[in-house]
Amino acid sequence: MAKKVLVTGGCGFIGANFVRLILKMKEDWQVINLDKLTYAGNLENLKGVDGNPHYHYVRGDICNEKLLEKLFLEYNIDTVVHFAAESHVDRSITGPDEFVRTNVFGTLSLLNVAKKRWIEQEVNTSVNDCRFLHVSTDEVYGSLGESGYFTEATCYDPRSPYSASKASSDHLVRAYYHTYGLPVLVTNCSNNYGPYQFPEKLIPLVISNALAGKEIPVYGDGGNIRDWLYVEDHCEAIIQTLEKGRVGESYNIGGHNEKKNLEVVELICDLLDMRVGLLPGDEPRRSLVTFVTDRLGHDRRYAIDAAKIDKEFGWCPKMTFETGMEKTVDWYLDNREWMDSVIDGSYREYYETMYGNRKLESS
Ligand code: NAD
Ligand code: DAU
Repeated sequence: MAKKVLVTGGCGFIGANFVRLILKMKEDWQVINLDKLTYAGNLENLKGVDGNPHYHYVRGDICNEKLLEKLFLEYNIDTVVHFAAESHVDRSITGPDEFVRTNVFGTLSLLNVAKKRWIEQEVNTSVNDCRFLHVSTDEVYGSLGESGYFTEATCYDPRSPYSASKASSDHLVRAYYHTYGLPVLVTNCSNNYGPYQFPEKLIPLVISNALAGKEIPVYGDGGNIRDWLYVEDHCEAIIQTLEKGRVGESYNIGGHNEKKNLEVVELICDLLDMRVGLLPGDEPRRSLVTFVTDRLGHDRRYAIDAAKIDKEFGWCPKMTFETGMEKTVDWYLDNREWMDSVIDGSYREYYETMYGNRKLESS
């Protein structure tokens, strides 16, 4: 059945990749993208799809219930894929309030309007045909030691204001299932990488600095571990969860791909050396690595056990890390105008605030 999907945060990194993929995979679905265009949202991320008659963009805030009601009614929304969030851990440490507003209250507004429309009014569409998919993160589970994996049964133990706000929203989403019967699904995914990621996050920040010959800030000892997944694999997993997921369930999504931060940084440096040549003076880009003061409360290791989604839908990542990183580096090289346009005055101000006084520990 052709769906009418409200995508929130579709102008951000994962949302934009999702909108592109779903318009390709589901040609008869209607996609309504609601995005406030914060610093992280960019209409350029959807250049080329804006002329598609199945795609509609609305600028607005997920906290605005009046606007949400209007959209649900106007487009007869039967599916929500909720990406919109404040997503950067470092920003949550310096300013948690906006994270609670968007991630907690914004999610609550969406839940309220979906409940009103699908359960209290039940106009045109049976609630059984509706889905509210909440896109969440593995960070809600806290930090792992040397061994073990996050499963769907792992207790929540968020440690940053960002992960605490996401955990809070996950609990609300599940509460709306148990209390009101809202047909929800929750996905908890590991670190994504790929095209259109804002250069406050590790991989695009390293690419940007390494290309410009600037110092590459590595927090602490560079030994923190993340489980990296190519963004398109995540988006495919979301589509499969929408179609095959059991209502009320959570699904972990991960890359089976644990890497220490320093390994990731060095791989990017080497790829860039190969693609564009060494730095002036024949210096390899690894020489730009600079160890800086650690992130407060820095989670040591994340690793996802994705056995449930594999067993239930047969989903597993298609992209290897080596190929995915080559594709990603090439995308940033081919899209330097995109990078130049996002590294504007406010980004430079952010960079100065975040990194300007970060004590250099050694290099
Ligand atoms: P992002 O920061 O790149 O994009 C967020 C988007 O949401 C932006 O377009 C922004 O304008 C929009 N937005 C923010 N506040 C809004 C509001 N109040 N109303 C409407 N729109 C608003 O984020 P991302 O990295 O693409 O992450 C998307 C989602 O996936 C988030 O919920 C995040 O928690 C989750 N997630 C991200 C990762 C990752 O590695 N990036 C991994 C797992 C889960
Ligand atoms: O695990 C999923 C999460 O992954 C998502 O929920 C978040 O939205 C997303 O931002 C990401 O969180 P991380 O904190 O893991 O991502 P980030 O790219 O900020 O950092 C990755 C690792 O690199 C982390 O251990 C911190 C480190 N780092 C980061 C930056 C920006 C550095 O060493 N130097 C840096 O300059």
